Parts: sequence; C-alpha cells; structure tokens
Amino acid sequence: MKILVVGNGGREHALLWKLRRDAPEAELFVTRANGGMEGLATSIPLAPGEIQALAGWAEQNAIDLTVVGPEAPLAEGIVDHFTAHGLCAFGPTRAAAQIEASKAFAKGVMQRHGIPTAAFQVFDDRAAAEAYVRELGGPVVVKASGLAAGKGVVVCDDTAQALAAIAGMMEGAAVGTAAAQVVVEERMTGEELSVFALTDGENVVPMLAAQDHKRIGEGEMGPNTGGMGAYAPVSLATPELMARVEAEILRPTVAAMAAEGHPFRGLLYAGIMLTPDGPKVVEFNCRFGDPETQVVLPLLRSSLLAPMLAIGRGESIAGVTLEWEPGAAATVVLASAGYPGDYPTGLPIHIPPEVEAMEDVVVFHAGTRRTDRGALETSGGRVLAVTALAPTVAQAAERNHLAAEGIRFEGRYYRRDIGWREIERRAAHA
Ligand code: AMP
Ligand code: GLY
Repeated sequence: MKILVVGNGGREHALLWKLRRDAPEAELFVTRANGGMEGLATSIPLAPGEIQALAGWAEQNAIDLTVVGPEAPLAEGIVDHFTAHGLCAFGPTRAAAQIEASKAFAKGVMQRHGIPTAAFQVFDDRAAAEAYVRELGGPVVVKASGLAAGKGVVVCDDTAQALAAIAGMMEGAAVGTAAAQVVVEERMTGEELSVFALTDGENVVPMLAAQDHKRIGEGEMGPNTGGMGAYAPVSLATPELMARVEAEILRPTVAAMAAEGHPFRGLLYAGIMLTPDGPKVVEFNCRFGDPETQVVLPLLRSSLLAPMLAIGRGESIAGVTLEWEPGAAATVVLASAGYPGDYPTGLPIHIPPEVEAMEDVVVFHAGTRRTDRGALETSGGRVLAVTALAPTVAQAAERNHLAAEGIRFEGRYYRRDIGWREIERRAAHA
C-alpha cells in the first residue's frame, strides 16, 4: 500500500503518525516534509497547490490513496483532478469544499435546509452591510466570505466596531481579495466544540468532540490564531448532545449537500456553539482541524485508514464504528515570538532526547525544517504541537507542559492553560 499525504503541518504529521500505526507496512509519502516527518514518510518536492503535478506523480508512482490535509487544494479541486485520473483520494470535491471556501454558500445551505446557525445576511455592498449592522443593533460578527486563513472573522462588541470591520474588509486591506463579499451575523454565546465526522456522502460517522483554544493569550484573550492548543474528550459532549449534533446538524448537512447536487465525501468538520437554544453551527470546514487532529487521532484505537479508503473509493461506510481509547489527550502549540503577527524563522530548535522519549507524549511538527546539515529550525508561526495522553485532561495538560518546557527555541511562546474549561468543570463537579 502506498499513501500520499498532501500538506506538511502538524495536522498532516498527526495523519501520517496514525496511518503508520494503521498500516505499519505501508509506504508513506508527503509533500515537502517538515522537520519531524523523516523516518515516517518520504518527502516529495511538490507543493500542495501543484495539483496537476501531484496527480501525475501519484499516477506514475501507483499511489493507492491520497489524503488531502489543507483546505486550499481541496477548494481548488485537487480531488476532482485525482478522480479524473482514476486515482483514489480522500477529501471533498471542489463543489463540496465550498462549504468551507465560501461562508455565503455554507450559510445558504444551512438556511435552505433548516440547519441551526446564527441569523445572517450576505453583502456585496458596503452601505447595505452597514444598514444591517445598525438594524441588528447589538453585538455582531463580521466575516470575509472567502478563505482567509482564520483571519477573516471579527467578533464585535458593538455597532462602531462592526462598521470599522466592514470598512477594513471591504476596502480589501485586511484580507487581500477575500472580502468582495462579507457575511454579517448575529453574535452567539456559548462554549464551542469541534466535531469531525467521516462521511461517504450519505452515512455519517462522528469522531470524538474536541475543544480548541483559538486566541493567542491565556484565558482566551488577544487575537485569533490558527489554534494554540486543544483537548479531547470534552465532558459537555455527552452521548445525548452528540446524538443531537448528529441528528440536527451532521446528517441534515450531508443530506443537504447531496440533495443540492454536490455530495460531501471526506471529513466534515463542524464548529459548533452550545448556545442557550441548543447546538448551532459557527462554521463548517472541509478537512481535519489543526490542532484538534493532534488530540483526536491519538485517541482513535480503531483504523482511520479503513474508512478513508472506503470513502476514497466511493464505497459506503454504513455500519462503520470507531473505537476510542479511554482517557484524554491535550496538545499545546509552541509558537514563534510575534505569531499571529510577523515572526522570525530559521531559529534553531532544541528538543531534548528525554522529551522525545517521554511515554505517552508525541511531538508533532508544524513549522519546522531541517537545514542542509540536518539541524532542526523554525519555519513557521506554529512550530510544534506537543500532545500528551493521560487518564484525565488535567493530567494530560500537566504532562505536555512538562514536555513543552524542555523544548527550546528563541522566543518560543505557548499557553499554559490548555484545557482550562474542562479542568474547571471537573473541579466544580468534584
Ligand atoms: P470562524 O472562522 O467562522 O470559525 O470564526 C472564528 C471564531 O469566531 C469562532 O471560533 C468563534 O469563536 C467566533 N465566531 C464566529 N462566528 C460567531 C458567531 N456568530 N457568534 C459568536 N462567535 C462567533
Ligand atoms: N483549529 C481550527 C481549524 O482547524 O480551523
């Protein structure tokens, strides 16, 4: 079996790690391996966006399964392209990937099919957007409709902030070309869950719910990032709640995508807010979350490869059930100084052997690379995600702090409060 993973961040490192466990004999390949993937996968010198070249390479090398990590190549149609070449690829088509690539599209699907989400309107016109903000009156959220790498959302406390956000986006300065359209929506309140579901376009197999920490600062302060840490399981995600999420959100969404002529096959990620009126969708993503994948996959005892292959081949996953390890996982992201703003790269990283050897700790690499001489250095904003497994979230968090503390690079920053909501909930119930 030959498997290609497209992408080279922490999420893709976790995918490779899990695929290696599922298929010890498989040959794994990855696009432009980061500094932690050697020994796990063979690096190929193509970028995730080089869709034509990747399909050609996969064909020549008789790749049995291609797993696409990031949203950008999915939104550009990498899976359509692979399928046209007779190749097996895991991920949605270009049309189905719109559920993430266009917030206006996603909101439309939810509205047409009665899937619970915040009230909203989509605007091409600045004056009309401003009028709607004034009409809603209270706290709103302003979003660039297109892909904006997590930077296209402004959660506003009042009308003045919302007007400023619209001006910033529609003038195009803040997010490039992403904001020809903006979505203005009601601001919801409640805790958030990240729920991944495997789907063949009809059947839905939800995974363990996780919670991520999107803000740069401890206590959820400061600007949004790609994600500074995550943990699973979340005790709020009771079997009853998950049954509701499945019945009210996941199944209707998958059915809606099929009914509208673009069935979604792959991994559907629902960002959910637990509002006083029940679970509602904040957003959909068309791929695994980063860093949630770094906690969900280490807890998955059963195979990920088997359902991925079935979905990639267009087969049914009816009857598939996933088995989970008992216990909990927490991951903490070690970031470069300055992230999510500008940050330096090329700084040497020291990971002590005793950290690499820690039991129930896995160091997933994201923005790292090897120099010509094999030394490890930083190459991105989120550098490493250190995952620990333990009986409880509190113990897992303690364990990954211990590991993170030992890892050094100049200016390294990480949050020391990963899992705090869960830890407080548990303490309250003790
Ligand atoms: P998104 O990129 O759509 O996931 O938005 C990023 C973050 O903004 C989410 O994780 C939420 O914390 C917040 N957010 C987005 N939409 C809303 C909303 N309608 N109400 C409250 N918070 C929101
Ligand atoms: N952790 C959030 C995301 O992957 O979009």
